[in-house]
Amino acid sequence: MWTCGCFPARLAGMRERIGILTGGGDCPGLNTVIRAVVKSATKRGWDTLGFLDGYEGLLEPVRYRQLDYKEMDALLFVGGTILGTSNKGRFAAKTGHGEANRISTEVLTAAKANIQKLALRALVCVGGDGSLSIAQQLFEHGVPVIGVPKTIDNDLEATETTFGFDSAVACATDALDRLRTTAQSHDRVMVLEVMGRYAGWIAVHAGVSGGGDVILIPEIPFCYEAVCAKIAERENEGKHFTLIVAAEGAREKGKDYVTAGSAEKNREARLGGVGGVIAAEIQKRTRKETRVCVLGHLQRGGAPTSFDRLLCTRFGAKAVQLIDEKRYGQMVALKAGETVSVKLTEAVGHLRNVPADGDIVGTAKALGISFGD
Ligand code: F6P
Repeated sequence: MWTCGCFPARLAGMRERIGILTGGGDCPGLNTVIRAVVKSATKRGWDTLGFLDGYEGLLEPVRYRQLDYKEMDALLFVGGTILGTSNKGRFAAKTGHGEANRISTEVLTAAKANIQKLALRALVCVGGDGSLSIAQQLFEHGVPVIGVPKTIDNDLEATETTFGFDSAVACATDALDRLRTTAQSHDRVMVLEVMGRYAGWIAVHAGVSGGGDVILIPEIPFCYEAVCAKIAERENEGKHFTLIVAAEGAREKGKDYVTAGSAEKNREARLGGVGGVIAAEIQKRTRKETRVCVLGHLQRGGAPTSFDRLLCTRFGAKAVQLIDEKRYGQMVALKAGETVSVKLTEAVGHLRNVPADGDIVGTAKALGISFGD
């Protein structure tokens, strides 16, 4: 349990206040979490301040707005984040593969001082591993924080699922349904490139749900011989089209990740482009007309699925409960279907990958789906 004499520096008669911010890339469900936090806080008689543009809003010029309970209903299914977000600037923390930069002491001290001036009881930080590693550093610096795990990539070790993932999978599955009919009509190979960074969760879940024939993920490096053998097998069965789902982090055996552009300072390398590389090579080898579709940020936009709405609502309410119980330095998580809390230290820096010998890959292989291995 975390307690600190100087937090909160409250004025007599003032209502309790908490803060919330959304960090890193956007994702469906951020507004749903904000809504749940504001509603649960209001029920306890607390006000909620929403900091703008992620952690940047904590620094001079401090930018926040008081979130009104009455505004919240409309937010349930609105994509993006009404608070804005950022994964660059003075708080850029992510360098890739789960590794995080140390934020400078000056920046942490300035943010803490501003939080104290606003007399916040605690700060809810909604984000993926980069943003949660900043939350952990703020906590180590004496700020009472609670983390909420967000990312379409579903790559956080400490929770069974992050919010946003289900919505991204729904989007990718819908794309596969659409690509199937055009692939079939033209007897083509269609490659769908999906996001996920260094984890293949979106690719494997959408690939199985959307009836992909080949799924290429970072956890199982592929070779073109195996991919082309699957295409030939389908041709022999009279199926003259093939659907390939490639995670942006998929890579050929012995080769490196395909990146989009050169890496920026203090920022994670941007993956992307492997779908085009794969499509060109397959067309060369099989002489079958091959097209690529890069789904990109469509996976991050729009309304959350009902699963994500429920998860976000549960996570938001749990975050406020943890503040009420003064259990700071924790992240809300889903374990065995229950919302629980785990230490932020357990949550950051450990990426969760698709187990190559796990249930979902086993299910796919049992159906004859190739992983190109
Ligand atoms: O982490 C979420 C994610 O969408 C990844 O799947 C993807 O690699 C990355 O963010 C894209 O980031 P940006 O929006 O900066 O291009």
